[in-house]
Amino acid sequence: MTDLSVLVFVMIILALIAVYAIRLRSVPMPTMRAASDEIIAYIPAETKTVTDFGSGWGDLALAIARARPDLQVTGIELSPIPFAVSRMRAVLAALPNLEFIRGDFRKMDRDPGDVVVCFLDPRVMVDVGDVLSQRMGKGSIVISRAFAIPGWQAFGEVPMTSGSDRLYLYRFGSHKPG
Ligand SMILES: C[S@@+](CC[C@H](N)C(=O)[O-])C[C@H]1O[C@@H](n2cnc3c(N)ncnc32)[C@H](O)[C@@H]1O
Repeated sequence: MTDLSVLVFVMIILALIAVYAIRLRSVPMPTMRAASDEIIAYIPAETKTVTDFGSGWGDLALAIARARPDLQVTGIELSPIPFAVSRMRAVLAALPNLEFIRGDFRKMDRDPGDVVVCFLDPRVMVDVGDVLSQRMGKGSIVISRAFAIPGWQAFGEVPMTSGSDRLYLYRFGSHKPG
C-alpha cells in the first residue's frame, strides 16, 4: 500500500465514523473500566439478560460480560466501524455470554431483557423512553449514564465517583410519576 492509499483509507474510516455520529446524534465515546464497574454494581443479582443500547466499541458490554458470566449480554450498535471493532474484540475475548448485533435499537423488534444500559446523548433519550415503553417488561431496570429519560421518574440518581456524570436508575412499571 502506498502512503496515499493508507491516507485515503484512514480518511474513509474517519468519515464513516463522523457520518454515523452526526446521523445518530451520538459520538462513540467508550465507558472506561472504573465507570463500567460503577454501572455493573447496579445490575441486580437475579438479572439474566442485559442489553447495551448503542454499544460503541464494545467496552461496557465486554466489561459486563466479563464481570457477570452468569448473564447474557447483547450490545446493539448501528455505526459500522465501532460495531466491527466490537465484534473483533468479542471474538478475541471468546466470551460465550456476549454478542454484538448491528442495528438501530429504535427499530429492532426485540425484547431488551431484564436490564438495559445506555450512554447516549440527551437528544435521543426521548426515543429510548419510547422504545422501552413498547418493549420492556414490568420490573425491568434501566441504567442510563449521564442522561435522564424525559418524563420518567428515576428511583435513583447517583453521582459517579469515576467522573462528573450521574447514573439514572429506572424500574419499568414504576417509572412514571404518580
Ligand atoms: C457514547 S457511545 C457508548 C458506547 C458504549 N455503550 C459504552 O458505554 O462503552 C454511544 C453509541 O451509541 C450508538 N448509537 C446511538 N444511537 C443508536 C441507535 N439508534 N442504534 C444503535 N446504536 C446507536 C452510537 O453509534 C455510539 O457508538
